[in-house]
Formats: sequence, C-alpha cells, structure tokens
Amino acid sequence: MTKFDNLSLERRGSFLYIIINRPSKLNALNHHTVEEIREAIQVVYDENSIKGAILTGAGEKAFVAGADISEFTELSEVSSRKFAENGQEVFSMIENCPKPVIAAINGFALGGGCELAMACHLRVAVRSAQFAQPEVNLGIIPGYGGTQRLTQLIGKGKALELMMTADRISADEARQLGLVNHVVESHDELLSKAEELLSKIVLKAPIAIEMVINCVNAVYNKEEDGFQTEANSFSICCKSDDFKEGVKAFLEKRPARFQGK
Ligand code: COA
Repeated sequence: MTKFDNLSLERRGSFLYIIINRPSKLNALNHHTVEEIREAIQVVYDENSIKGAILTGAGEKAFVAGADISEFTELSEVSSRKFAENGQEVFSMIENCPKPVIAAINGFALGGGCELAMACHLRVAVRSAQFAQPEVNLGIIPGYGGTQRLTQLIGKGKALELMMTADRISADEARQLGLVNHVVESHDELLSKAEELLSKIVLKAPIAIEMVINCVNAVYNKEEDGFQTEANSFSICCKSDDFKEGVKAFLEKRPARFQGK
C-alpha cells in the first residue's frame, strides 16, 4: 500500500483505518493531506477486500482542527475557489463511496474537521469531542461542503446559528442535533463502537448498502429525481444473487451469506 506522509493506513480484517496523522498541528488539513485523503478513499473504492473504512485522527486531542490556516495566506480570489472546489470533490468522494465510511471523532472537529466528519456516512464521537464551524472568525465561510451538509443534517435554523456564531458545541449537543449518531465515554470505546457499526453493516448485502447510500445522497442532488433513483436502485438489487440469497435464507430460517453479486 502507498506510503503516506500525513495519514496512517491500517488494515484490520476487511476494514481500512484512515488515520489523519499530524498531531503536532492538531491534524489540520493542509493541501497535501487532502490529496492523501483522496488517495486513501480511492483505495476503499478500488480494493475488493476492503468492505468499509473508519476515518479518525491521531492522538486524543483532535480529530481535525480545521483546514491548515497557515496555508490561507497564499489564497487569492482565484486560488480560493479552486481550494474549495478541490476539497469539495474529495469530500464528495467520501460521501458517494459505495462502501460505508464511519468517522470516529476523537477530539476537536472544527471547520474542515467537522466538514470531513459530515462527509462520512455515520459519525461516532467521544464525549470530550467538540464541534464548530468557526470560519467566520477568520472572515471566511465553510468551503468543503459545510454550509450544505450541516444544513442537511441539522436543519436551517441551527446550521445558521452554528455558522454565524462560530460557537463550539459538545458531542452530546451534536448528538441531540443529529450531527453525531453515537457518543461514547472514552477513547477506548470509540473505535470499538465504530467497528461494531461497520461490522453490522458489512453483514448486509453490499449492493443494497451501496444503493441506500446512492438513494439518500440523491435527496440532495437537485438534478436527480430521488424516487426514480430509488426505483432504479430497487430493481438493481432485485437482479442480484444476494437478493435471491436473502429471501432464501429467510425462508430457510438461517442467516444470509451475501457475496456482493
Ligand atoms: N491550522 C493550522 N494549524 C493549526 C490549526 C489549524 N486549523 N489548529 C491548530 N493548529 C496548530 C497550532 O498553530 C499549533 O501549532 P504550533 O505548536 O506550531 O504553534 C498546534 O496546532 C497546537 O494548537 P494550539 O492552538 O497551540 O492548541 P490549543 O489547545 O491552545 O487550542 C484549538 C486548540 C483547536 C482551540 C486551536 O488550535 C484553534 O482554535 N485552532 C483553529 C481552529 C479553527 O479555526 N479551525 C477552522 C479553520 S477554517
């Protein structure tokens, strides 16, 4: 597997751990790290033996404390648009990944860190984690899809409040808002909870899981008729061997053995 500078990739069985590894900078996302995330997610797409991924941060302090502010001095009107579009592209790759990607939020998820977590399919956070979109403090706005995904996840009123006040919220508040799926007490429990969720999902029919992801993402794609996507996806599932196996297993009162075909 490729060697990364700012990520550690670990295979544990059929899961790929993608660990953002710049703890001295609280795992802030510089351009190079964003490109490495692109490469790592491509591995999840391409490698058949990988069934799902867990994205987390190195250390106990930060998941990701935002985009790397030290690179902001170089941004011009033109390059800043590219900066945002490039980050959006990588984060959309995560959101559209046909295999489940879970964010295990081990500390600060600020700015681009919160945006990265929101691009994942599910989010588990340690109770001490904190969330914010503090970009207005710097005179900017979220640029990696945060204005869209935060609004999708928690609704307009709360999203506007968080983005306009730059307030930091706790993991419990984030869960109450629907920003986080589960909160655990300790760092030790974080990865086991993420793995527990992933293990449950990968036992289901992989094509059906991929279609669920596609259909839910279609809700937010203005060019797509989500109901049409659902009907198409339903029919794709029905021609799979896994559908036959799922029904047969039910009738034979045994667990299904899905092959992803
Ligand atoms: N970009 C670049 N470097 C960052 C960073 C970021 N987003 N967040 C933290 N760092 C760096 C700090 O500059 C510092 O580096 P240094 O030791 O070389 O000076 C190191 O990480 C540790 O951060 P520090 O601020 O000393 O830790 P802290 O515990 O006092 O504060 C935070 C933690 C998260 C509250 C604070 O680092 C912070 O506010 N970061 C920026 C958050 C932000 O605005 N993110 C959105 C960007 S759009």
